[in-house]
Amino acid sequence: MRRLALVTSIATVLAAAVCLAPPARGGAPPTLHDGLERLRADDAASPAAVAAATRLAKEFGTPLYVYDAATIRARAAELKAAFSSRFPKLKIHYAVKANTNLAILRILFHEGFAPEVISRGEILASLAAGAKESDVLFTSSSKNPAEIEMAVKGGAILNVDSREELEQIEAAAARLKRKARISFRINPGVDPHTIHQINTGISESKFGLHLEGGIAFSAYERAKALPHVEIVGAHCHIGSQITETEGYEATAKKMLAFAAELKEKLGITLGFIDLGGGIGIPYHDGETVMTPDDLAKALKPIWDEGVKAMGYEPALWIEPGRFLVAQSGFLVTRVNSIKKTPVKTFVNVDSGFNTLVRPAMYQAYHRIRLVGETGPLEKVDVAGDVCETVDILGADRMLPPAKDGDLMVILDAGAYGFSMASEYNSRPLPAEVLVDGDSVRVIRRRGTFDDLFRGEERARPARPAGGTAPKR
Ligand code: LLP
Repeated sequence: MRRLALVTSIATVLAAAVCLAPPARGGAPPTLHDGLERLRADDAASPAAVAAATRLAKEFGTPLYVYDAATIRARAAELKAAFSSRFPKLKIHYAVKANTNLAILRILFHEGFAPEVISRGEILASLAAGAKESDVLFTSSSKNPAEIEMAVKGGAILNVDSREELEQIEAAAARLKRKARISFRINPGVDPHTIHQINTGISESKFGLHLEGGIAFSAYERAKALPHVEIVGAHCHIGSQITETEGYEATAKKMLAFAAELKEKLGITLGFIDLGGGIGIPYHDGETVMTPDDLAKALKPIWDEGVKAMGYEPALWIEPGRFLVAQSGFLVTRVNSIKKTPVKTFVNVDSGFNTLVRPAMYQAYHRIRLVGETGPLEKVDVAGDVCETVDILGADRMLPPAKDGDLMVILDAGAYGFSMASEYNSRPLPAEVLVDGDSVRVIRRRGTFDDLFRGEERARPARPAGGTAPKR
């Protein structure tokens, strides 16, 4: 009887284990990649999701930036498939600012993308990751003399943002006895309907030379007359997290018409027209947004018509950042405590706007998964550990009841996550790890407390012998 009971309970346990087992793929146990995918699919209580988050947090600590190489490669393939089939003269740059980790840059350069940068530091990061200096596209709207000199010397293309900058580049190139390759950043005056803070192509924006009033035209006219610059293209970037094609369509029409005008009136032919970055991603469950295929399809007839009118075909350039890396990134954080106030329930976690600033800075929405918990959903605010009221990573989220020690995973943190992180409140920067299938490695070690004081004066220098005490 007792033996039968034992056999029955073993059978029950085995059956339960089989029920809990993740969808078997040829019987193989789930990989870290599978676990991350379960988290994305809102299946954070599944064994694969729990195993992945637990393993990552145990091995590397929290808060932790995790990137999934497979997702970066998938997005790269999707982008290339959409554009290269329709635009044979195509070059894709990756906007390095979205995620500057060298390991991520190496993946993207290996995929064939060139760097688009906004600072000397980003040029150096790109070179360290194996890019060629002549492939660099340098866009900042406020370049300092050292940056201009470095870009001219290295043969990068400079996206010129003002008439004054044009003269500075001419002077630097003359001094260096070089010819600087330039394009102008054009402000097309198009509203792509995105978050106000990341809208860059509207007339009020600080970026670019306006088409309005012939400002951009006269800049090309001037550049043509300068001996140390070579005009190679025209550039624009109307904003970020753009989820519909209309803004791009309007911009493409304006850029192509402008290129036709340059050809007709100044005899300038452009090597490329760069339509910028900005391709958005769905940050919400169930949301559908413009895909690269939608965008390429919408641009194709406009491009073909423009090219016909111009009488020649420049290369089409684009320079996305977010689209390539955002979805690959997961921020793993741990619950410190739960606090119920008369008004709300706060789940306090060990990251904050020092780790991921987008929610505080742009009221951006990131999905948050509570790992391994089930139960009736309750409305909570996921609160960061920075001493500021705005440090809420997710407001009014419906989640199962959390307890201290639980793990939470914030999705789509691969773009403008770590690259905008800070040590505010004297918290060391999180580590970054890269998952490939079931393997994982550190691609940036966790910040240390020593890092917090690097470069600072540690102790007051000793008073010189015989010196007098400073006056109070
Ligand atoms: N090209 C230029 C000239 C840019 O300024 C940017 C982004 C890009 C390309 C890439 O845009 P993307 O494809 O990533 O949308 N921190 C904000 C986004 C700021 C974007 C700045 N410029 C955020 O977290 O949403």
